[in-house]
Amino acid sequence: MDIKDELLFWTSIMRDHANFQVNALAPKEQTFIENSTYFMDFFAKINLEIKDSDSLKMIYPKLLHGLQCFIGYKRVILKNLLTCNIAINLTPSNISHQINEANLFMMVLSAPDHKNNQIPTMLYVEQLKLWITDCAGHGAIMAAFLEPAEEMYIQQALNYKMIFEKLTIKASELQMMLMQTGLEDGILLQLSQEAKQQISDFTCFCELIMKLREECKVMAIGTFTPLVPNHFIREQRHWISKIEEYK
Ligand SMILES: [Fe+2]
Ligand SMILES: [Fe+2]
Repeated sequence: MDIKDELLFWTSIMRDHANFQVNALAPKEQTFIENSTYFMDFFAKINLEIKDSDSLKMIYPKLLHGLQCFIGYKRVILKNLLTCNIAINLTPSNISHQINEANLFMMVLSAPDHKNNQIPTMLYVEQLKLWITDCAGHGAIMAAFLEPAEEMYIQQALNYKMIFEKLTIKASELQMMLMQTGLEDGILLQLSQEAKQQISDFTCFCELIMKLREECKVMAIGTFTPLVPNHFIREQRHWISKIEEYK
């Protein structure tokens, strides 16, 4: 993936995160609503600038600064959530995953020429673990946001959550073994293939849920707009492309 596409992807993801915050904040959280709206507009605007720009160099400093501020702001939300000081309909792990994703974006900005197949094995395993954990989080969010009467879809979402949690354990064990032995053999590629297959299966399920939400054919909480599964799908496709890049 070239750097422009990478930046377009990540700025759209940051814009969505701010959008989800705005939708989830209680009306009494005026300051947080204003801050989240600011970041939503910032990333929407910079996304358009990147789209129209031939030279990204001018945009980098502004983008880097905006991202640093957004990471700091997400940490403040998380701290307030953990100390029960904010009325927001997002869980701490939800915000924590948003921070992980912003950190992945920061890595792209810090090393824009870093192709995935050139990254050291340990860094790749670390990222693979984050991608898999993220998918487990997507499954959990979906199960939590759907109407309890939608049992069939909830069970499917929870089943994917469980699959990705098991894969996370496998990835952690493998990471330890690779560190202990220094080996870089086929077992890592095997895990990558397994993760890729499960992520693409789950993405099909997310596409179904998105379509059903678009047609208002599945019940859920009101803030579970089609943008939520759409956001998951875009991220998951990105994780798959990163797995494919790594040889
Ligand atoms: Fe996200
Ligand atoms: Fe995510």
